[in-house]
Formats: sequence, structure tokens, C-alpha cells
Amino acid sequence: MNSPIGIFDSGYGGLTVLKSIKKALPQYDYLYLGDNARAPYGTRSFDVVYQYTLQAVNYLFQQNCRLIILACNTASAKALRTIQQQNLPQLFPDRRVLGVLRPTTEEVGNITKSGHVGVLGTTGTVKSDSYKIEINKFFPDVKVTQHSCPMWVPLVENNCFNEAGGQYFVQKYLDEIFEKDHQIDTLILACTHYPILKESILKYLPNGVQLVEQGDLVANKLEDYLKRHVELAKNISSNCELNLLTTENSQKFDHHLSLFYGEHLKSQSIDLD
Ligand code: DGL
Repeated sequence: MNSPIGIFDSGYGGLTVLKSIKKALPQYDYLYLGDNARAPYGTRSFDVVYQYTLQAVNYLFQQNCRLIILACNTASAKALRTIQQQNLPQLFPDRRVLGVLRPTTEEVGNITKSGHVGVLGTTGTVKSDSYKIEINKFFPDVKVTQHSCPMWVPLVENNCFNEAGGQYFVQKYLDEIFEKDHQIDTLILACTHYPILKESILKYLPNGVQLVEQGDLVANKLEDYLKRHVELAKNISSNCELNLLTTENSQKFDHHLSLFYGEHLKSQSIDLD
């Protein structure tokens, strides 16, 4: 039985992370799960995000994944720690669940020159304060300003960010975070959906501000992690296969997949409840 790397997101956003990981580590098998039927997660409470994420993790474990990446900042910020500390030791002590915050937070202080970093994320990610706490653990002197962009995920999920109304909200949240701190020179896209808006974001970004996307950072750290965890790495199957699962209608997912991932692939619909 294959043992793919599980990649989980609330919807389409994790495809941006999958793309980078697959490019860096093409040899492995991957099983992507998007909980599209229950997305967005960003406005949901801690308990609900935790329950949904745990269901997804359990499902991916049943599919024989030994390593799961929570390619969703909201799930990483609100559910990862509890799953790692409370659920994993009881369920599968030899399996691993990793998130997407750490690869970014442990690097960003080396990128900023002004020492002022901006974080754009969902309401849930921003409210959790996880980015601020993690960044300041590694770089205590960095000033972190967070701002939530509640309309960005729906704009991506509904593929309407290129319309005038969509562009209005892209510009609005950028203006608002730079009003909070005009010295920000490094801006983290702390939601896996946001790279899909990159072209629009670049139009409204002040000169000299560097955008930090997570895909390549997560992929590089994963590559490094697997070199250090040989036992785990050797149990991942390596047939270059990609399978896609969604909790929504699979045709709907496949249509968006070709838009957001750039490939025509077929997904399968599953139920997590
Ligand atoms: N893609 C998710 C993230 O990175 C959030 C999208 C959602 O709100 O479901 O935070």
C-alpha cells in the first residue's frame, strides 16, 4: 500500500504549497485533501477549526499517510499544537503532522532590513497571535503588525479577484496595514490562498516592500526535515503520484484546480463527517 505525504487545506489555497513541495521533492507520492465544503476556516472558532482539522488528519492517516503537512495557516495556527501534543501521541506516535508557520517565522527576521514586518492573514490566524508570538521567539526586536483580510479567501474561492470589486478589497487591506505601520519593508502572505492574488497585490504594494510567500520556504524546510528524519522519509512511497480529494463536488474542484494549479487533473469527492 502506498504511503503518500498528506497535504491538507481548507480549500484551494494549499495547492500553492503543494506546487512548491512537488517541485522540490518530485519523487514522492502526494495525497491532497481540500475541505472545500466547509471552507473558509478563517472566520470559524478555535474549536471548530480544531475538530475539522482533526477529522481531516484522521482521514489522511487512514489513507496511510505517515507525514501530513497542514498547508493552511488557520489550521496550523489554531489546531496544530493540540494535534501534535494531545492527539498524535495516542493515535500514531510514529507519524508526524507539520504546519506552515515555522518555516516563515524562523526566516523573516533575516529578510527585513527595517525590522518592521507585516502579516496578512485570515481573522482566525491574526486573532490567534501565532505569527507575532513565533516571530518574536526567534527575533525579539522585530516589530510585527498583523492585519486580517476577510474578503480575500472568498475572492479566491469564487475566482472573482480580477473584477473591480475584488481589486477594491485587495487595495483596501494593503492600504490599511501600511497605515498601521509605514515602516514595514517585509510583508508575509500568511494564508495559503493569498499567492493566488499575487499579481493584484503587487499592483498596490509600496515600492521597496518585499513579499514573503510560503510555498518555497515550506518546501525547502521539508526537504531539510526529511534529510534529518531518514526513518520517516524511507517509508514514504516514491512513485511521483498525486491524488486529489475534496469534500465538495469533484467537478467543481477540478475546474478551480486547472485555474489555480495550472493542470487538468481529476479529483475524487469524499465525506469527512
Ligand atoms: N488557506 C487558509 C489559510 O492559509 C485559510 C482559508 C480559509 O479561511 O479557509 O489560512
